[in-house]
Amino acid sequence: MKSLAALLRQSGAPLPYAVTRPLEIVEIDLSAPGHGEVLVKIESAGICHSDLSVVNGSRQRPLPLVAGHESAGVVVELGAGVKSLKVGDHVTSVFLPSCGSCSECTSGTPAFCSVGAASNGRGEMIGGGSRISFDGALAYHYNGVSCYSQYAVLDERSLIKLPEDIPFDIAALFGCALLTGIGAVRNSAHAKPGHSVGVWGLGGVGLSALMGAIISKASPIFAVDPVASKRKLALELGADFALDPNENLRDYLPAGVLVAIECAGRADTLKAAYEATSRGGTTVTVGLPPASEMLSISALSLVSDVKTIRGSYLGSANPRVDIPEFVDFWRAGKLPVEKLLTSVSPMSQVNEAMDALHGAQVVRQVIHPN
Ligand code: APR
Ligand code: ZN
Ligand code: ZN
Repeated sequence: MKSLAALLRQSGAPLPYAVTRPLEIVEIDLSAPGHGEVLVKIESAGICHSDLSVVNGSRQRPLPLVAGHESAGVVVELGAGVKSLKVGDHVTSVFLPSCGSCSECTSGTPAFCSVGAASNGRGEMIGGGSRISFDGALAYHYNGVSCYSQYAVLDERSLIKLPEDIPFDIAALFGCALLTGIGAVRNSAHAKPGHSVGVWGLGGVGLSALMGAIISKASPIFAVDPVASKRKLALELGADFALDPNENLRDYLPAGVLVAIECAGRADTLKAAYEATSRGGTTVTVGLPPASEMLSISALSLVSDVKTIRGSYLGSANPRVDIPEFVDFWRAGKLPVEKLLTSVSPMSQVNEAMDALHGAQVVRQVIHPN
């Protein structure tokens, strides 16, 4: 079938993207969903920094690809053998499909699925190959989602069914920003009541981490970002302190924070988070800096201060368990996802939205492909 989609043919275009328009709205051909796959009508798709990283070239992916990896929509067609979904189901996408049978999946860590990571790296579906073509040639998927499109073919292992009363613009954020941010605090850092937590970078992911810290009853909670409006929002959401990166967290808490979460995607921010981590504390990094960036820390401090540095991908989550729990938190008013939504635009504005994300004044923008 035909679908209008945002296709990236080449990364690294000069800014502003509103002028150079690296994401072209074109008509793609989608093949019918294969075994275990479904066709989803995309109602809302988030603009995440990982999409911007592919557009600006700091993350290399096979091109051309249909961008977008954070979305919500409705199942409109089933491929053969689909067990977990039916037509009409509301779904949110997860940007790493979990195969269910590799050693990572069977040992209870589906966020580390090596099969899904490999198919994402190849720009293919986890079931193999691509369902997207443009101008008669195959195009690639992005993280098995490719949701900057009116319709998308996804493996059922990339989808979580959601209750129908959740607005799509809220539901879209469950599968990336919330899973990654909240998961980093709860699953990777194991933040507990009374633990001090710091979050560096207050985009969609970082503010989700902040909400996760509040749900975990962590205290005190520090939020760090150069943008004043984001620090203000962090305080409104419940942070105890909001600091500019030029400020020293230890001036406020001399021991440093037990849990430091880096959500800016910068090696220098990871270093700042590490240096603000207390003795015996854990630095968790969620951000994805360009592959060329190196981290330099005092080798001695890791031992003498008994610190841990931990990477967290997909919030070390089990999406099938964690996302329904987020729904409960949202219903209980503990997860004000609405406050993260900066704007809603048609898909034709996707390049302008990428410029705005680059400018760092926005939190989460969503686009509507239909
Ligand atoms: N210290 C703290 N925060 C900083 C700094 C700094 N030195 N420099 C920039 N920031 C802030 C920006 O102002 C912005 O608010 O980091 C934030 C990053 O937010 P977004 O660009 O909205 O990114 P987001 O979509 O939340 O993703 C965060 O997680 O999944 C990864 O690839 C993604 O690396 C990215 C990270
Ligand atoms: Zn994302
Ligand atoms: Zn697996």
